Amino acid sequence: MTSLLDRPVPHRTADLTLRRGAVRVLLDNWTGHSTVPSRTLYPHQWSWDSAFIAIGLRHLSVRRAQQELETLLSAQWTDGRIPHIVFNPAVPNDAYFPSPDFWRSSTCGRTSGAPAAPETSGIVQPPVHALAAWLVHHTDPEESRRRAFLNRVLPRLTAWHDYLLDRRDLGGGGLAAVIHPWEPGMDNSPCWDQALQRVVPAAADAFRRADLDHGHPADRPTDLDYGRYVRLVADYRNTGYDDRSGRHTFAVEDPSFNALLIAGEHALAAMAEETGADPAPHTARAEELTHHLVTRLWDDDAGTFRVRDLTTDTLVDEHSVTGLIPLLAPRLPRHIVNRLAQTLGSPRFTAPATRLVPSYALTGHAFNAQRYWRGPAWFNTAWLIHRGLRTHNLHHSAEHLRQGFLGEAEHSGFAEYIDPTTGAARGARNFSWTAALALDLLSADLKEPTP
Ligand code: SER
Repeated sequence: MTSLLDRPVPHRTADLTLRRGAVRVLLDNWTGHSTVPSRTLYPHQWSWDSAFIAIGLRHLSVRRAQQELETLLSAQWTDGRIPHIVFNPAVPNDAYFPSPDFWRSSTCGRTSGAPAAPETSGIVQPPVHALAAWLVHHTDPEESRRRAFLNRVLPRLTAWHDYLLDRRDLGGGGLAAVIHPWEPGMDNSPCWDQALQRVVPAAADAFRRADLDHGHPADRPTDLDYGRYVRLVADYRNTGYDDRSGRHTFAVEDPSFNALLIAGEHALAAMAEETGADPAPHTARAEELTHHLVTRLWDDDAGTFRVRDLTTDTLVDEHSVTGLIPLLAPRLPRHIVNRLAQTLGSPRFTAPATRLVPSYALTGHAFNAQRYWRGPAWFNTAWLIHRGLRTHNLHHSAEHLRQGFLGEAEHSGFAEYIDPTTGAARGARNFSWTAALALDLLSADLKEPTP
């Protein structure tokens, strides 16, 4: 694989150094069939991480990017869900918590369609996969056709979206709901605080956090949050991971999760067309989802999309990066695009020490510059917003963000996230999606079609 380091894509010396660093991270984190997000903190395969990783890996090896996605898809449940973690049986049980013996997918998840092997978690993560598969295909369409890549992944990705739009339409308004703060991927965002308060935490001595072996306690969610995360997992597991049990203490509609579903439906339409199938159902779904997103989650006074708490059926009054990511939706009304661009450029999200977008408003009452999703700026959300800005031809802002991303990815040692007030690297280093998405922004053909 060393030869992959020498592909002559970028020309500037700084770009070459960045590229070599990013490639090294991806080679080191490759396990033989997929990529770990982090050798220390996250030693298995994670769902949305793998999608972002495939988006970068495609510039090194299209075959490896295909394998990344197909390894994940091979653990799909028969009800269509793609689990948020696929456990590597070679990794010690106590390397990560909740461990496979806590989730017990192969037994407790059997009636919902969990595979007999491998062991997986039972919740999901944001649906970045269809977009990733389309981009992987687009990188080398001939290789993709020769291996019938789209023919294999399209039915699985369609089943995944069907699951989200059928079993997870808990609000009945045509959007997918998430039932655990890990599902939208922004674990301890203040957007979940109100809904989480209803969850009785599991006793602190009932589990041992493995994340604190590697992460600083000030960077990670609190013990109280963890107690609630554990309780929600145990309750869901005890229903057999049945979404229709009607017993979700936590259920919200997240703008970013649904925006990714919209982008994913556009990608499925492009893939259907490419394989000779009918794209119209996917295009229609994308249009419907965009309509529901605007109707149910847009807050015109605030200039952002909001999270909807389904228990109270109200919008959560917080400004988070999740409210800006719907820029990804290509058919968003122009006045909403303009308002989102304004909010993005406002003091809420213009940080003194990073061009990345803080995960929570700098001016918000719960802002914390270090703690995971309560303020720190993340590279994957910056990539999504970069793509959204390009989708709507806001090229100047997109380029500003891209340049910041590349510089900060390198200076931070491919950090998991950045303190937006100081620019300091936080969380894990040599983080796979940071490296992968840097490679993408360095290598991607910026004229690539947005499906
Ligand atoms: N991000 C969550 C964790 O910290 C779940 O994937 O484990």
